[in-house]
Amino acid sequence: MWLTCSSIGRKLVMAVTGVCLVLFVTFHCLMNGVALFWPEAYNDVCAFLGANWYALIASIGLAALFIIHIIYAVWLTLQNRKARGSSRYAVTSRPVQVEWASKNMLVLGIVVVAFLVVHLIQFWAKMQLAEICESCVVEGGEAIPPQAGTLFIQIAFSQIWTPIVYIIGFVALWFHMNHGFWSMFQSAGWDNDVWIKRLKCIGCWWTSIVIALFVAQAIVFTVQARKGFYNDNEGLKQQYIEFREEMNAKHVECEPASESVEVLTIINE
Ligand code: HEM
Repeated sequence: MWLTCSSIGRKLVMAVTGVCLVLFVTFHCLMNGVALFWPEAYNDVCAFLGANWYALIASIGLAALFIIHIIYAVWLTLQNRKARGSSRYAVTSRPVQVEWASKNMLVLGIVVVAFLVVHLIQFWAKMQLAEICESCVVEGGEAIPPQAGTLFIQIAFSQIWTPIVYIIGFVALWFHMNHGFWSMFQSAGWDNDVWIKRLKCIGCWWTSIVIALFVAQAIVFTVQARKGFYNDNEGLKQQYIEFREEMNAKHVECEPASESVEVLTIINE
């Protein structure tokens, strides 16, 4: 098939999956922004995007996009290396920054995937996956309802290594997205000199705004989590109790585990 057999077809697949992933990352960043200002509304969005059929279809589509993008990336890189042989180490006249990001797209992609694995374990596995499995995740001996997104932010960002790992992931994502943004248009045949310059400028702004927002979110979540904000807020505590009752009504085991645990006091107070 043309999309797998020809080099242009493969680049087009990279470009189309790349555009969809940029749109997902932008949407995700805006959704997290809700948690900064309206944490209760954020939990409502998390509940809406739980194990419902529409959210599951979106998640499966997203996973397919990531997998296709990664497989084609490795394939294209190996193909380019084979075609260029030892000349890939030759000195070229291209600018240093462009050269660095474009040469290291695979490595940058691997750092982003490593970040993603940690991130999915911290959030997705405890939220959507837990809901699919009809269970409540137990943290520190306490059952937490999967809709309580802000409690998972509390747990993740109160650990000091979380913002460090996230910021490393964001930096890699900045380079990866910044380069990928214009190069996917170029791959799709849009290599007009004037437009490539404009696309590089749009790509740089777009990527920088998205990544700056992610960094700001990681900093605010860390400061708030260390103050225990998502544990102590009255409105949130009420919402956690309602989520737990919803889970219990669905006959999912989401009862407090032990009186002595910190999170239990948070939810039950
Ligand atoms: C401050 C930074 C971030 C926070 C607080 C955050 C938070 C979350 C939360 C709460 C979920 C679970 C949503 C649910 O299952 O209902 C989630 C899922 C996810 N996040 Fe993030 N995220 C951040 C950054 C990122 C970045 C930079 C990427 C991509 C490179 C990313 C990729 C994903 C993916 C792929 C999912 C799974 C989506 C699905 O359920 O289908 N996240 N994130």
